[in-house]
Amino acid sequence: MTKIFSWQDHLEDIDKRGVRKTFTPHKPVSEVQSLLGRQPELMRILGCLDTPGRHVLLYGDRGVGKSSLVKVVPHLIASKKMHKCIYITCDSRTTFKSLARAILSKLDISGIEESTFAREETMKANVSAVVATGELNSKKTTTIKKPITDLSPSAVASLLETQKPSLIAIDEADTISDPTDKGQLAELLKLLSDADSNLKLIVVGIADTARELTGGHPSVQRCLDEVKLGRMKNEDIRQLVLQGMHRLKFDCEPQVATEVAKLANGFPYFAHIVGLNLAALAVVEGRKHIRQSHVAKALLHSAESAEQSLKDAYEDATRSSTTLAYKQVVNAAAHIELPEFSLKDVKTRFSELYKRTLSDSTCSNVFRRLAGENGGHVLRRSGRGVYRFADPRMPSFARMTYSAEAFQATQPAGNQ
Ligand SMILES: Nc1ncnc2c1ncn2[C@@H]1O[C@H](COP(=O)(O)OP(=O)(O)O)[C@@H](O)[C@H]1O
Ligand SMILES: [Mg+2]
Repeated sequence: MTKIFSWQDHLEDIDKRGVRKTFTPHKPVSEVQSLLGRQPELMRILGCLDTPGRHVLLYGDRGVGKSSLVKVVPHLIASKKMHKCIYITCDSRTTFKSLARAILSKLDISGIEESTFAREETMKANVSAVVATGELNSKKTTTIKKPITDLSPSAVASLLETQKPSLIAIDEADTISDPTDKGQLAELLKLLSDADSNLKLIVVGIADTARELTGGHPSVQRCLDEVKLGRMKNEDIRQLVLQGMHRLKFDCEPQVATEVAKLANGFPYFAHIVGLNLAALAVVEGRKHIRQSHVAKALLHSAESAEQSLKDAYEDATRSSTTLAYKQVVNAAAHIELPEFSLKDVKTRFSELYKRTLSDSTCSNVFRRLAGENGGHVLRRSGRGVYRFADPRMPSFARMTYSAEAFQATQPAGNQ
């Protein structure tokens, strides 16, 4: 796709208006007032933080808003309650030991304090007479700090359990690649819970089930509040768009928010990316108002600037010199409301959208590629004859791209 408008020449104006601070597709929300909806989940998390011995496991699809939720929690707990709130992001190189080191360092625990060497010391001569009088034969306790060498879950737990109340958020725990490390994290949670520690852990990650994040450690379930973060409600996404436009002082047609919410399909990421482009476009074109007729152009730029992994998967799967069938089938599948669907469901949606029938052979050929090794793995087979999108955000991306390309096709060549 060719760029329909470039921001580079207008960045100053766009930033002066605050557009990139209001719509932040690539950054979790961290201010309470920018977080829409999510009251039930927040209440559960706050309730759990108030319950001795309980920790939180927050899980859900990529892009539903897990990091945003966990980042606003510190602003919602009374500041005097927590000594420190720390936030750690894992990646594929994270091990239990590196995580433990990061926690200890953020809590300023640099060594094991040993005050066991309290010993009676008789102050020796050559001290000044005045001082010496008081200190002669006094007990002197020597506290030394031994470096921490043992980073097993039990050693780490005993270092942490006596700490002042603090909140430790461990994000992207799903990226910890070794199940043993995941299991050790679960063990730490259990040990801290058993010891009635003042520390509260919130473990966050992409997962379908909580078990995936705890490495299947059975006994940890009892000390965890498992909070599944589902998609956002359409109404909350609508408000996200309207609130952002209101903050930027744009007069935005309510239907714009409705259309964006429909496309976003519960993923706030898409509401931010389309909102950003709608607002930037209005700045570039010197408009005060945002109407439904402006959405298509904003979708075009949104599709271009979307996350690379989505673009690559879509491109790999649909690139074909001879036929539009791949894009049309992906678009038809993206219009199915259910998370799982069969070939028959796609064929039905296809004929509703394009007013023609998709033959069985074309349909199965296309599916073979979309879910096969040579395609971009846009679809995944989840059972016999049953498929789902490998990335749950793909339906929104595919619909956005399809509409953007259809819009582009209607534009005179010079306008691109
Ligand atoms: N409740 C919310 N209200 C408004 N925007 C949100 C909300 N939750 C997430 N977002 C936005 O959606 C995008 C994805 O959120 P993020 O927290 O990074 O998701 P996750 O951690 O689940 O991948 C970000 O742009 C973030 O600013
Ligand atoms: Mg995240």
